[in-house]
Amino acid sequence: MTSTRHLIGLLLGTEEDWPAAFEEILRRLGPVDGPDGDTHDFDCERITIEPFRLRYHPRYHLVIDRLAYWYYVPREWLKKVAMMDDVYLLNSPFTFQSMEKHAAYCAMMRLGLKVPETVLVPYKNPVDNARYAYTAARYNQPFDLDAIAQQIGYPLFMKPYDGGAWRGVSRINNPAQLHAAYDASGEMLMHLQKAVDYDVFARSLSIGAETMVMKFQPDQPMHLRYAVEHDFLSPEAGAEVVTIGRLVNAFFKWEFNSCETLVKGGEVYPIDYANACPDVALTSLHYYFPWAMKALVKWCVFALVTGRQAKLDLETDRYFAIAAETGMSYGEKLAAYRALADAYFETERYEDFCATRLPGLDQIVLDWVTGPDFDRLLVRTVQSVYPAHEHDKFIAHLRGLLHLWVRDESTRLAAA
Ligand SMILES: Nc1ncnc2c1ncn2[C@@H]1O[C@H](COP(=O)(O)OP(=O)(O)O)[C@@H](O)[C@H]1O
Ligand SMILES: [Mg+2]
Repeated sequence: MTSTRHLIGLLLGTEEDWPAAFEEILRRLGPVDGPDGDTHDFDCERITIEPFRLRYHPRYHLVIDRLAYWYYVPREWLKKVAMMDDVYLLNSPFTFQSMEKHAAYCAMMRLGLKVPETVLVPYKNPVDNARYAYTAARYNQPFDLDAIAQQIGYPLFMKPYDGGAWRGVSRINNPAQLHAAYDASGEMLMHLQKAVDYDVFARSLSIGAETMVMKFQPDQPMHLRYAVEHDFLSPEAGAEVVTIGRLVNAFFKWEFNSCETLVKGGEVYPIDYANACPDVALTSLHYYFPWAMKALVKWCVFALVTGRQAKLDLETDRYFAIAAETGMSYGEKLAAYRALADAYFETERYEDFCATRLPGLDQIVLDWVTGPDFDRLLVRTVQSVYPAHEHDKFIAHLRGLLHLWVRDESTRLAAA
């Protein structure tokens, strides 16, 4: 019997809550016996930014990235370790920075998903390039913004083609708002998209082969956006939301992503699913935080112990072949996509791995969340996120939601 050590790197910005949780769960989990009879140990380190030789060999076997979407030094380091060293990444910049919201819309439209009608319009302001004036004068066709909006139909949304975090998003009800929003878009490249007047907003968070579908309330402040409500979708719509999230992730090889879908009268409309650096803060996920941390640990351990290989190429053909089938209904295509996505994520093997190799983890996490260490993390997090006069309120709020999780999880484990 041999023992293998795996080093997990965390690429972090300002957050302290989820990394502390991740490190603690991994520590409490301890060594894992692999299916190969070997023992696997896990270390976790926070990665620092420094000059690097392109030919150097990194020590990390897997990296979780929450930084490279805005800080380009680690982004270029991630590209190097993906291209040269086969480091397993959540997520690879090759699949993620090159595939922003617009590309994701195009792909899922081709697969027949119900992405609302969307039009890309040219920049409002000139592009900062000496060649722009000549090129635009020669090749930019004049266009009628009102006619485009009319064709899509009001209300609609104007939002950046590569958006995130609600930057530059506006809901538009009439031509005056349309022009005001376009004038304000300046140097941003914008989509116009038909608004869906939805019954329910379902946001799913996927980590590897696991997906949590949550009821989302976008108009609420951050700490109230995820509602704790089970069965808020019909079983069919719930399954479709899971399938869409998993399909998007398998298609782009995103391992850690959130997917926004609007549900109206049983139809599921995906609107935002290129969030490959998703928010997993304790203060926003609250009740769902233990699930997310556990899923992240399980997926990393699974990938490392089973020697899962990261792939850089997207292999889109098999998906497009299903999309092109004329005899298949939407439901049949979804089922076929789901089979591909589950094969990509090795869902069955993952579930079997968790059941046989990590049987104690549920109890470990429950004990931790029930105990004083977790409460200290909760208090520390609130103190670092909110102003002093709000500490008591948010500590009570989060404790209440986590107690609820402890109660539900205890019931679930007792019944299992
Ligand atoms: N087509 C749409 N129909 C209804 N609401 C939308 C639509 N597009 C965007 N929204 C609303 O605007 C918010 C931000 O848009 P989104 O596409 O998610 O951009 P971001 O990437 O900035 O989150 C969404 O969470 C949703 O509330
Ligand atoms: Mg969004």
